[in-house]
Amino acid sequence: MTQQHTTTPSSVWNKVEGLGFGGDYNPEQWPVSVRLEDLELMREAGVNFLSVGIFSWALLEPSEGTYDFGWLDEVMDNLADIGVKVALATATAAPPAWLVRKHPEILPVTADGTVLGPGSRRHYTPSSSAYRRYAAGITRVLAERYKDHPALALWHVDNELGCHISEFHGEEDAAAFRVWLERRYGSIDALNASWGTAFWSQSYGSFAEIMPPSAAPSTLNPGQQLDFQRFSSWALTDYYHCLVAILREVTPEIPCTTNLMASSATKSMDYFAWAKDLDVIANDHYLVAADPERHIELAFSADLTRGIAGGHPWILMEHSTSAVNWQPRNQPKMPGEMQRNSLAHVARGADAVMFFQWRQSFAGSEKFHSAMVPHGGRDTRVWREVVELGAALKRLEPVRGSRVRSRAAIVFDYEAWWAAEIDSKPSIDVKYLDLLRAFHRALFLRGISVDLVHPSDSLEGYDLVLVCTLYAVSDRNAATIAGAAAAGATVLVSYFSGVVDMQDHVRLGGYPGAFRDLLGVRVEEFHPLLAGSQLKLSDGTVSSVWSEHVHLAGAEAVQTFTEYPLEGVPSLTRRAVGSGAAWYLATFPDRDGIESILDTLLDESGVAPVADADPGVELVRRTSDDGHSFLFAINHTRSAAAVAATGTDLLTGAPFSGSVAAGAVAVVAEG
Ligand code: GLA
Repeated sequence: MTQQHTTTPSSVWNKVEGLGFGGDYNPEQWPVSVRLEDLELMREAGVNFLSVGIFSWALLEPSEGTYDFGWLDEVMDNLADIGVKVALATATAAPPAWLVRKHPEILPVTADGTVLGPGSRRHYTPSSSAYRRYAAGITRVLAERYKDHPALALWHVDNELGCHISEFHGEEDAAAFRVWLERRYGSIDALNASWGTAFWSQSYGSFAEIMPPSAAPSTLNPGQQLDFQRFSSWALTDYYHCLVAILREVTPEIPCTTNLMASSATKSMDYFAWAKDLDVIANDHYLVAADPERHIELAFSADLTRGIAGGHPWILMEHSTSAVNWQPRNQPKMPGEMQRNSLAHVARGADAVMFFQWRQSFAGSEKFHSAMVPHGGRDTRVWREVVELGAALKRLEPVRGSRVRSRAAIVFDYEAWWAAEIDSKPSIDVKYLDLLRAFHRALFLRGISVDLVHPSDSLEGYDLVLVCTLYAVSDRNAATIAGAAAAGATVLVSYFSGVVDMQDHVRLGGYPGAFRDLLGVRVEEFHPLLAGSQLKLSDGTVSSVWSEHVHLAGAEAVQTFTEYPLEGVPSLTRRAVGSGAAWYLATFPDRDGIESILDTLLDESGVAPVADADPGVELVRRTSDDGHSFLFAINHTRSAAAVAATGTDLLTGAPFSGSVAAGAVAVVAEG
């Protein structure tokens, strides 16, 4: 549980000067001679911020209660000498062998009862009392030892909580789940009502009878599944709190964080809920090399991270200089791609750019993962690009603290994502992210910034609000969305939104229950499409995945289905609401269809691109509170591209020419 402390942590941005630049530093893998060379190379690259000691527990505490801090003392002192600030890890992301031997019950158990063994990393369950005790022990020893160290700027708690495995099914996990449920519901009757256990004879007589969802003959109770997701996300933060409570006690002024993995691939953790417990948001992001639009996925992940950070500057805690080692085929980054990636994160709100890792390992599972210092040393493209990036970030210091200000918002909710994808739905083809990302992509291609906001966030100030497959929504949050339309925004709600409440109970009387009045429609029956089928719509565009029997109840039809049995039934509707409008989209249009709907919504809402540019240029503007504005123009094409902006290109120091070279980036201080 979080403890109350009188001293509040100071901001990491008071400690790290300029934009942060560095990465995970694992000096324990190297002899002293290499560690000394590291210092020279760090100076050359302009490194000012490193995460240290993430996987070092077994070396720091080689046997229970015996410590060896010699190497870490030396590293911390040397880094302080060259002005590098440290995000010091609690070292708890991989338990030492002696601890596993003594307490094998700390090991994670999967839903089918498999115990995951040691020899890798993250082989513990966050609800293990023994693990928490020992993790708290090493955390306290580290905190006491380095509390006054001049290099210490931030606590890096554990590492990527929930990575590899995020749901745990052991005995202590089951017990913690029961306690969590009892706290949530208060009585077993309330739980039975919420889970709808009258169905299939699933009623419980007491909390003691409840188990985490596990292998079963058929589909499991959806309420149980949804609550287990909620619990599992919470259990990781509860463990985080155990360690943070110690850090707050020993070093109340040092901020704490843990590195998130916000991206289109991470579903299990509710990072919007986590955010309130982190003093600064830190995110790790890795490109999927096989995705030809990987820069658009990056933009989505960075926008999501900014949303989680509530718009405040955040730390890109890890990305890669080039290839990773864990995809099926690990293609290196193309020349200039690392800089485009790094600066795209900065454009979208990161004030620190860090990598996994500083020096490429020569042994271990990740020896073929790229790093800032590659196996080949200084005479390599990667090293030259790292040095260039360090210099670029130095020139971008004026950008620090400025913010992306968007007029468009996409509502994003992990709980709605979980609920929408629990089994036994009308179609397995309805994936929470698909439509949402299709709209994000179309906005990206137009150079329009969009914030990803939680449904409980205020929508004030947004002129365009997109609500995509928000299957589960509370009355309160549905009212906020309706309020945005009444206040003048153009709001689009899609199919499979507002169908259930947060208990996954269907809102009766016709879909989309929570939004029926706002939208002025009533949906009688879902008509999901069979695999591979498409539908022609009245404006000539094509859609897939979904159709439904929509009745108008106050809205006007803008577009209709054309095929049996829904010919003439509305597929897109609009209802004027206050000074705004509420649109309903009853199908999943193809890319042309999405673009044409989006253009209509942009016209109506007046939301425009941040600048005019040739296609293929990513555009984002950051503005500071004192009125300075910085236009990031990232050319993802292999030819020069025109961008309509005037001012000084911070990266060259020269007036911006109006053209960005092939694969290059310009950051124009406008005016
Ligand atoms: C994660 C981890 C790092 C490293 C990288 C490799 O982000 O936090 O320790 O394993 O992946 O891409």
